[in-house]
Amino acid sequence: MKTLKRKDSEYEIKKGRILRTKEITDLEKLFEIVLPGGENLNHEPGQFVMVSLLGVGEAPFSVSSSPTKLGSFELVVRNVGKLTNAFNRLKAGDEVGIRGPFGNGFPVHILDGSDLLFVAGGIGIVPLHSLINYAIDNRRDFGKVNILLGCNRPEDMLFSDELDEWTKRLDVNFECTVDRADSGWKGNIGLITSLIPGINLIPERTFAFVVGPPIMYKFVVDKLLEKEIPERQILISLERHMKCGLGKCGHCQINGIYCCQEGPVFSYDKIKDMRESI
Ligand SMILES: Cc1cc2nc3c(=O)[nH]c(=O)nc-3n(C[C@H](O)[C@H](O)[C@H](O)COP(=O)(O)OP(=O)(O)OC[C@H]3O[C@@H](n4cnc5c(N)ncnc54)[C@H](O)[C@@H]3O)c2cc1C
Ligand code: FES
Repeated sequence: MKTLKRKDSEYEIKKGRILRTKEITDLEKLFEIVLPGGENLNHEPGQFVMVSLLGVGEAPFSVSSSPTKLGSFELVVRNVGKLTNAFNRLKAGDEVGIRGPFGNGFPVHILDGSDLLFVAGGIGIVPLHSLINYAIDNRRDFGKVNILLGCNRPEDMLFSDELDEWTKRLDVNFECTVDRADSGWKGNIGLITSLIPGINLIPERTFAFVVGPPIMYKFVVDKLLEKEIPERQILISLERHMKCGLGKCGHCQINGIYCCQEGPVFSYDKIKDMRESI
């Protein structure tokens, strides 16, 4: 197994206090968390934290808020099992353990002046939400901003208040689609890949950010390559099962790559050889 030098602070568990919770769908809840003394998390968009609940366990969660939000940060938790079930029962004032932030995040430092294309499938909007809000808060630093979101059903859409705001903005193009809906839905029906051909973009100026369920990646990447976006400008976040977040347990490995350390964000040129395993 790889041995990686660790900083002591990466083992340190900080006490996070829940300031606010909000049920955003039947399955997902938003948590606003404050660290001792209101210390900033100092994360980059796309990074994650390890959250521990005493007597239950620890798991990774992407930071959904932008680093431009100071004094607290936000997570969105989908209730799927033991830990997330216990997490979803917590309320304002309760405490959780926080380690991190971990992972490489999106390369914000190379994006100045570029056009941004976000492609989010389902809960993949959570890590992208951090970068989208970062881009909106620093809007003059970027060219065109296109946001594409695909969900199973309209009621599965996260951040619905903000989606309305993004729709109204003149400096952002927001489009969404659902796999199925009843007759009350007036928007697009179809897979997220159906939205990509209609986007007007200049490939060499564009960075694409893709996060969603594993099945989505290769179909979305193929559409982005058809648009001639360079492989190194297609950035994908891979959320593998993780236990330690420290390069020790090996749970997150794909073909020898440790997602918790070298990822979760990879440019397509770096992972295209293992395209069938992602
Ligand atoms: C980098 C990273 C960022 C993440 N960000 C978020 C986030 O922002 N919000 C969120 O709700 N979840 C996120 N997850 C997933 C989250 O960590 C898992 O849902 C959580 O560990 C499940 O714990 P549990 O005890 O509730 O479920 P378990 O009882 O351990 O598992 C319940 C079910 O979920 C499946 N499962 C567990 N972990 C994963 C995983 N990593 N990927 C796919 N399936 C999984 C299991 O196979 C099982 O079917 C992230 C995972 C990673 C690696
Ligand atoms: S989560 Fe343990 S090695 Fe990556």
